[in-house]
Amino acid sequence: MLAAAFKREMDRFLARTPKSAKLFEEAKKVMPGGVPMSWMSKWPGAYPTFVASANGSRFTDVDGNEYIDLCLGDTGSMTGHSPQATVDAIKTQLDNGITAMLPTENALAVSHDLANRFGLPLWQYTVSATDANRHVIRYSRLITGRSKIVVIDRCYHGSVDETFATLDSSGNTIAREGNIGAPVALTETTRVVEFNDLAGMEKALAHGDVAAILMEPAMTNVGIVLPEDGYLKGVEALAKKYGTKLIIDETHTISAGAGGMTAQLGLKPDFFVIGKAIGGGIPTGTFGMTHEIAAEIVAKVEREVVDTGGIGGTLAGNALSLASMRATLTEVLTPANFAHMAKVADRWSDGVESAIAEYKLPWHNNRLGARGEYLFLPRAPRTGREAADAGDFKLEQYIHLRLLNDGFLLTPFHNMALMSPVTTEADVDAHTAAFHEMCKEIASWN
Ligand SMILES: Cc1ncc(COP(=O)(O)O)c(C=O)c1O
Repeated sequence: MLAAAFKREMDRFLARTPKSAKLFEEAKKVMPGGVPMSWMSKWPGAYPTFVASANGSRFTDVDGNEYIDLCLGDTGSMTGHSPQATVDAIKTQLDNGITAMLPTENALAVSHDLANRFGLPLWQYTVSATDANRHVIRYSRLITGRSKIVVIDRCYHGSVDETFATLDSSGNTIAREGNIGAPVALTETTRVVEFNDLAGMEKALAHGDVAAILMEPAMTNVGIVLPEDGYLKGVEALAKKYGTKLIIDETHTISAGAGGMTAQLGLKPDFFVIGKAIGGGIPTGTFGMTHEIAAEIVAKVEREVVDTGGIGGTLAGNALSLASMRATLTEVLTPANFAHMAKVADRWSDGVESAIAEYKLPWHNNRLGARGEYLFLPRAPRTGREAADAGDFKLEQYIHLRLLNDGFLLTPFHNMALMSPVTTEADVDAHTAAFHEMCKEIASWN
């Protein structure tokens, strides 16, 4: 049934996208797999849809098909595509220098804003959240003199070597599937623990060799896995007890609200990482730290070698990304806009949950502010493992392709939907109608 339904959707896709097909044929001659970055070959369909333009909550492909975008650049465009305030600030900056490797006044305003939102007083800038994670890992090793990083099973924090580890069935840390070209064995750098498992966390830290815990406050890259009451505060206390630095990565969980889950739950991490949405789509990343940490870094890094110690990036903190961050933070990622995003996301989740209930599908939907996500298991997962085990790649590919044909783009990796400040109730209701039709068909297969 699934195979036949997938073929029907593939035929629909091919009929709707002849120009994308032509561009893809040309693209294959100059890019491996015909895509600008290898993971883009994961999009459902025979090829990715080529974009002609994107505005607000929608984009149009080169064949003239319009889509409601619930992927939003996997959070890079959580602001909606090309928000006016950000575009205006970028245009002004384009006329006044894109990068000079010197600070601009915008860096001060952005740092003040981040400090107010997330509670950490001092900030540094990168060009991606991946870089920010790499840098805080290095700093944590520098400060503690320890080698290991603790990560959560089935996490994702960008292309960060230490994080591509998982647990085997006996609870040992091993390399994750697809971990190509690892510089050293993962067992040398990493210890993996399950989410929502404080006892496991304590066991991992008790060795006394852990420089940092790197984690999202809710998992968002294996479906959404929410923290149980007291879990995050428990992790914070354990990190203190064992002299381990706590790095909270809110690159995705910023969907929870203007100050992320850190503000909502009163978390007090040693380092804080974020990227993607805060630049409104312009590449950027940042990490915050406490005064104590900054003092330790200054004491340990000599000025003469500050540029060659593995922390940096020529374009880090460039004028354009700071201009875009300033406008995005102050005018787009505002509490009022977050309130709207959460409201339409709730409406989206209500629609999804009503279809799951009506057609008695063994699926569960989780909510995280501006995000919603359904998983193919009947109750909320407690751990990344439970969420990963519920994965069904073929069903997922069918769902994504069908919804794409119906005019909705989901995040390619799982079934996550994200709302922007300009996503409307009508956008959400259109999805609900299409989702109901799809669930009706899927239920008829059983
Ligand atoms: C939680 C988290 N951190 C960091 C990253 C890396 O972001 P980027 O690819 O923009 O460097 C991602 C990417 O999906 C992420 O989900």
